[in-house]
Amino acid sequence: MAADVILDVQELCAYYRILKGDVKAVDGVTFQVRRGEILGIAGESGCGKSTLAHTLMLRKPPLKHISGKALFLGQDIMAMGAEEFRKLRLSRISIIPQYALDALSPTKKIGEFVTDLVREHGIHPDRSFFAKVEERMRFVNLDPAVLGKYPIELSGGMKQRVIMVISTILNPELVIADEITSALDVSSQRFAATLLVELREKGIIGSAIFITHDLAILYQIADRLLIMYGGHVVETGPVETIVHEPRHPYTQALLSSLPKVGVQIKDERLEGIKGTPPELLEIGPGCRFRERCPYRTKQCEQTPVTENIDPDHSIACWHYQEIGGERVG
Ligand SMILES: Nc1ncnc2c1ncn2[C@@H]1O[C@H](COP(=O)(O)OP(=O)(O)OP(=O)(O)O)[C@@H](O)[C@H]1O
Ligand SMILES: [Mg+2]
Repeated sequence: MAADVILDVQELCAYYRILKGDVKAVDGVTFQVRRGEILGIAGESGCGKSTLAHTLMLRKPPLKHISGKALFLGQDIMAMGAEEFRKLRLSRISIIPQYALDALSPTKKIGEFVTDLVREHGIHPDRSFFAKVEERMRFVNLDPAVLGKYPIELSGGMKQRVIMVISTILNPELVIADEITSALDVSSQRFAATLLVELREKGIIGSAIFITHDLAILYQIADRLLIMYGGHVVETGPVETIVHEPRHPYTQALLSSLPKVGVQIKDERLEGIKGTPPELLEIGPGCRFRERCPYRTKQCEQTPVTENIDPDHSIACWHYQEIGGERVG
């Protein structure tokens, strides 16, 4: 494993086991997070982004880890027991889950919530701990008096900042942020996203995985992008390369449907994304985008091999060479 890699995910498969069979929501996912970077994960609703985050952090039934590894600084967190993993959580790896705003119990004051949470992680919340919480609150423009309030007394943006303070209070080396901006208005969205960058610049957090639908936000804050489709990783690379020279037909279509990023695809057939993502229940092999892809051939019925088209840019498509990589936009 390269020295600058903090998380090395290898062929991770996690399925939901339901009565009708397996929903293959994360199916052979491989990627790395480097020290100090923000890796953006994007893809349409239902492509497995939250499942990926949950697989790494929660492993709640009916989600079942099937195979693959996730090496955090060389240690496989997928092979850890619950107790061993609990020691890492919050202090070294921290997740801000999708819908985290709902996790604040309505009957607990914010201060009590913080106390209970850190106790669960074996930390005694003494005076000096709360002094640190208050300092962080000021850093995110929150009045520390918020600790004495109930969640209902706070706006969505304030609650999000509380969650971000709590999730990063122990200076984790890796933060996984899942749609932390989606429930917010535009200015709070921008605030939450840039806050993560500031926390990294101040050395409070190390690296981050930032999951969102919003490619425009990722363009501003991410160093690299990973594009998911139907439980597979289809393309990974530096943010500039992915946005300006996307090679996978799905990445191209995703970008062309987002005028905000200022990128348009020359090929008219790719405007917008027609059709819907595939049903992941008991899905078989093959490229999962093929039903919607203008370049599909018989070969696409086999799962594409992921290839590096340059050392930092990888793609899983049988036809990427024919599609070309001319600069678009
Ligand atoms: N508890 C569950 N049981 C069965 N299937 C599930 C469960 N949770 C999610 N799924 C399925 O797993 C797939 C991936 O869902 P996931 O929530 O990871 O997507 P996502 O990319 O995070 O979507 P969004 O952008 O809407 O948050 C979907 O097909 C979804 O229907
Ligand atoms: Mg999600």
